[in-house]
Amino acid sequence: MTELVIHNARVMTCDPAKPGLGIIDRGAVAVAVDGTIDWVGADDDRPRDRREIDAHGALVTPGLVDCHTHAIFAGDRAHEFALRAAGTSYVDIQHAGGGIMASLGPTRAATSDELRELLQGRLAGALQSGTTTIEVKSGYDLTADGELRLLRTIGGMPGRPRVVSTLLAHLIPPDRAHDRDAFVREICEQWIPRAANESHRPTSVDVWCEHNAFRLAEARQIFDAAKRHGLAVRGHIGQLSDLGAAELLAEYGAWSADHVEYISDLGIAALARAGTVAVMLPGACVQLRLPPPPVARLRAAGVPMAVATDLNPGSSYCESLPIQMWLATTHFQMTIEEAWLGVTRVAARALGLGAAKVGTLVPGAPADLVMWRTDDPVDVAYHYGTSLVDRVLTS
Ligand code: NIG
Ligand code: FE
Repeated sequence: MTELVIHNARVMTCDPAKPGLGIIDRGAVAVAVDGTIDWVGADDDRPRDRREIDAHGALVTPGLVDCHTHAIFAGDRAHEFALRAAGTSYVDIQHAGGGIMASLGPTRAATSDELRELLQGRLAGALQSGTTTIEVKSGYDLTADGELRLLRTIGGMPGRPRVVSTLLAHLIPPDRAHDRDAFVREICEQWIPRAANESHRPTSVDVWCEHNAFRLAEARQIFDAAKRHGLAVRGHIGQLSDLGAAELLAEYGAWSADHVEYISDLGIAALARAGTVAVMLPGACVQLRLPPPPVARLRAAGVPMAVATDLNPGSSYCESLPIQMWLATTHFQMTIEEAWLGVTRVAARALGLGAAKVGTLVPGAPADLVMWRTDDPVDVAYHYGTSLVDRVLTS
C-alpha cells in the first residue's frame, strides 16, 4: 500500500475514547505504507506529503465487520423459504428432514474448488456491501474430516474481506443421535484438536445450544475442549428457547452470545458481568418469525450489542450488513449509534479483534475504510435495499 490521505471527509472514527460514533465533521484519515492508519484529525491539519483522495464531504467509516456468518455451503434451500412463506415453521421443516441437514448432502458432495468458488462469490457480495472483515463458521458437514475441510477452505481464502474462521458444533445428525455422547466426544477429541493444529486455525468454537441441537452439559464438554486448545468460546443461544446458555457462556468468558431472542434477566446480568457481546441477527429473527430479542433490557444492563447477517442458506440468505442495520433499527429498535457500533467496533470485539483496533479509524488500526454516497450516518440504515457504498479501501 502507498501512503495516502483521504480528506474532505465526514469521518466516523468509532474511537472508544470519543463519545458516540466519534465523528469528525471536516476530517481526514492518513494511511501509512504498512497499511495501518497513522493519523486521524481535522482536514486543515492533515499531512500534506501524500497522495490524496478527496471525499467531497462524504461519510467515511471503518470497514464493516460481519461477526456471524455460515457463508460456506453448497446448494440452497429456496423451497424451505417458500414453505415458510406459506406458514410452515423452521422447526417443523427440520423435523421433516429439512433445515441444516438438507445442506449437508450438497456441501459434502461439493469439491473443495466448488466450495471455494461459492464462498468467494458470497465474500465478494459482502465486500461490495462494505464488509472488510468477516467471520465464517464451519458446520454444514458434521464429520471430522469434512469440518476440517471446510475450515481449511475458509482459512485459505486470499484477499479481502479479511476472513476469520470458527468451528461450529451445529447439530447432532440423526444418524448419530443414538449415541450423542460418542458424537460429542468426537468433537472434543478429534474435531477441536485437529482444527487447533492447522496453520489457519479457527479462533473460536461455537455451539448451537438448543433443545433440537446441543444440550448444556454437551456444550460444556465442547467448551472445555475448546479452552484446552486455546480457542475462545461463542454460542448460538436462546434462538428458540431459553436453556440458560447465557449463564454458561458467561462462565467461560465467551466472546459472544448470538441470537438471544429468549434470555432471562439472570442471563443478561451474567453476560454483562462477563463482558460478552450479544450478537443481534435480525434477518434470521424476522425470517423465522421470532420475537425480537430484549434490546432495552440488554442496553439497560450494559451488554455490548453487535449486529450481523447470519448469512446462511436457511434462516438468513443475506450478505448485506446495511440491510441488517435497517432491521436492527426498525424491528429491534436499536439506535443508529448502536447499529453502527454493532457492525464495527463491537462486532470486532465479538471476534477477539478489539485489541487490534479493527472496526475503528484510529492510529494503529488496519486501514479498512468505506466511503459512502452520503454524508449522513442515518442514511445507511434508513435508505435500505440499494447499496450506498461508493468505494471500499482495504489494507
Ligand atoms: O444461525 N441456528 C442455527 N443455525 C443457523 C441456521 C442455519 C441453517 O438453517 O442452515 C442460524 O440461524
Ligand atoms: Fe448462525
